Amino acid sequence: MKQLVHRICKDLLTTKNEAEVIAARLLNCSKHELYFHTVRDSHLQHKLKSQLAQLKNGKPIEYVTRTTSFLDLDLNILPGVFIPRLETEFLIEIVKNKMVDAPRKILEIGTGTGAISIALARIFAECMIIANDISERALQCAHINIKKYELEKRIMLCRADRFSGIKGSYDLIISNPPYISQERLNRLPKSVRDFEPIIALDGGFNGIEIIAAIILNGYEMINEQGNIALEIDDHQVGLIRDLLILNKINNYIFLKDLFGRFRYLYISKKII
Ligand SMILES: C[S@@+](CC[C@H](N)C(=O)[O-])C[C@H]1O[C@@H](n2cnc3c(N)ncnc32)[C@H](O)[C@@H]1O
Repeated sequence: MKQLVHRICKDLLTTKNEAEVIAARLLNCSKHELYFHTVRDSHLQHKLKSQLAQLKNGKPIEYVTRTTSFLDLDLNILPGVFIPRLETEFLIEIVKNKMVDAPRKILEIGTGTGAISIALARIFAECMIIANDISERALQCAHINIKKYELEKRIMLCRADRFSGIKGSYDLIISNPPYISQERLNRLPKSVRDFEPIIALDGGFNGIEIIAAIILNGYEMINEQGNIALEIDDHQVGLIRDLLILNKINNYIFLKDLFGRFRYLYISKKII
């Protein structure tokens, strides 16, 4: 195992500590168990070699191991599906803290791996969720994860473009939508640009195309006590505020992430 750790340090230019984390992820064991492992099996050796080569090419480790985590969830991920981010974990915290009454009907736009919906279903034990995505691959992945957590009866998946085919009224509409402006798309890190699905990132010319659709359609679809929770880019606060003012939506708040950037929008039909 020492050899594997050395090889990761050398090939990926990592510290020993980082190499141990990567080796443990590749072998699906904890860092502490790592040195009890001996990789004699030639099939496993071959697999590790190929996984390392993929990492060397810049492929995110989540796509190599086909696993990712979100809060306390261990999720499957397929290449071509957006990798859940730490920022989005905080969106769940915001909902948990802000919702006065536990939501019973939730709509998620753009579910990806299903991370947000699965986390909410486990927090709000009574809720029913509709989770959509435009990507068939994302829905396949979300289905695997929803099944893993035995939530098939409470999270309904559907393929849809934004709100098409969605009916009813909701206590909560939530989304981490694509919100990268076209100008910023080209400046994303290579590991994101080359490996993550463009459809999960591209928010149109100024990045707020889908955000605007969610705010305007969503506001019509939340009930009297309803709320909308969105992850946004901090550069978009001005544009979004103008949109809210223009549409006479007054009960909203922009919230900061752990780094002090405004990364969330929370809208409520009631005074916040
Ligand atoms: C930034 S990713 C977020 C995925 C997941 N909710 C998360 O936080 O990890 C955005 C997701 O929205 C989906 N999407 C993009 N355009 C969409 C549209 N017009 N309607 C529905 N889903 C869309 C993408 O396929 C992608 O899965």
